[in-house]
Amino acid sequence: RPPRALLAPAALFGDTRRNSTGFDLSDEQTLERIDAAREGTIPDAMPLTVSAPTGKMQDVFNPATGDSIAQVLMVDAETTARAIDDARIWDAPPSERAAVLRRAADLYEQHYGPIFGILAREGGKALPDAVAELREAVDFLRYYAAEGEARAEAPRGIIGAISPWNFPLAIFTGQIAAALMAGNAVIAKPAEHTPVVAAYAVGLLHQAGVPKAALQLLPGAGRVVGTALSSDPRVAGLVFTGSTATAQTITQTMAGNLAPGTPLIAETGGLNAMIVDSTALPEQAVRDIVNSAFRSAGQRCSALRCLYVQEDIAPHLIEMIRGAMDELQVGDPWHLSTDVGPVIDPGARDEIADYIAANANRLLHRLAVPAQGWFIPPTLLKVSGIGDLEREIFGPVLHVATFRGDQLEQVIADINARGFGLTFGLHTRIDSRVQEVSDAIRVGNIYVNRNQIGAVVGSQPFGGEGLSGTGPKAGGPRYVPRFLAPTMQSVPA
Ligand code: SER
Repeated sequence: RPPRALLAPAALFGDTRRNSTGFDLSDEQTLERIDAAREGTIPDAMPLTVSAPTGKMQDVFNPATGDSIAQVLMVDAETTARAIDDARIWDAPPSERAAVLRRAADLYEQHYGPIFGILAREGGKALPDAVAELREAVDFLRYYAAEGEARAEAPRGIIGAISPWNFPLAIFTGQIAAALMAGNAVIAKPAEHTPVVAAYAVGLLHQAGVPKAALQLLPGAGRVVGTALSSDPRVAGLVFTGSTATAQTITQTMAGNLAPGTPLIAETGGLNAMIVDSTALPEQAVRDIVNSAFRSAGQRCSALRCLYVQEDIAPHLIEMIRGAMDELQVGDPWHLSTDVGPVIDPGARDEIADYIAANANRLLHRLAVPAQGWFIPPTLLKVSGIGDLEREIFGPVLHVATFRGDQLEQVIADINARGFGLTFGLHTRIDSRVQEVSDAIRVGNIYVNRNQIGAVVGSQPFGGEGLSGTGPKAGGPRYVPRFLAPTMQSVPA
């Protein structure tokens, strides 16, 4: 038997399927179902707990219009403590757990209409991004089912799963699926902006056969539910995706309250760079730059933030980037032609707009945006290097710098010096340069002559180092084992 890492993805997925085949947006029947979802109502997001939850109702908004579209019950600290009392590990054999997760994957795919509807309206996701997100969620379910099926180690116990709004289905599902596949009890706290898709997904997971005491959903504020989960000594591990600052807060809270050595798996931010040298194919580089920086309105931790272009080709390449930006359709996520949707909330819009205004002297290009809703124009700013970026701007803002051929080493040193290490892109046609740069750059995911977003489960395990995360990488063979107890100690049954 070859080592697992060398197996083809089909083998890792445990059946003849590879990744989810996705959805054909040119198929009439598919489009009819998506249209039906456009008219459909968005359900309220209720906690899914064993005991009756308490808390406060709050509005959920559509970032493309600013309208309230549903309500969510935001639970209190008592509900969180009761959920921890009620949590029970899932002690079915691994093969049974895997079968349930595969059933859930099928249910996710069957319910694509409502799922796209919620992702577009609650999350502001443009339809192609919603399609990619559902595929990734389904891939996580099937991949972790296959990864955990053959393992006999004991679970850790109760795992708190705290997920982000930018992948409110895929990352949410990935965290839960891995922890469940290891046999743990999961308490999931979805992002405050996107509880509806989380409640819909947990409904499907329960319908597939995940026991209610093994998976509870607690919509709520980070400072209430997140704090309770990271400070209750009965919690045996946390998995978190979000900002670096929040991960640092969680680490501190855990350190003061949980058993020493309780694991935290964190995927956090990035200041991701791409280097384009003068041998690159300009048309290909421009397409990949624009996709990496502006797709999903730049709201991906993997997104390109700082582009370095070798100076001999810079004027031409930057002119081409401006031209490509002019082709981007910014607007209603429901339109099939939309490339860039809104940012998540008015706070994000104002913060990014203020940043652009403060950097007006660096402005190279900016598009117009719809007046209504929370939109930010795709924007190009000139900088001298990554050192000019104060922080990660989580939106459609790309910084561009130029470099001379003899400065390449310094550019790489500058990128590494920022301490983040998530994604990096390189466009070159010099083979030896691919090797040299890949050896020197310290990031989790390196992409050569392609875009640097949209890691594929099973083929491109995703995750960073340094300020960008703890590892192990999601969608890779080391992820499920991290949710298993390192020794055969007893765990709460
Ligand atoms: N996994 C996503 C990507 O690769 C980011 O979270 O773009």
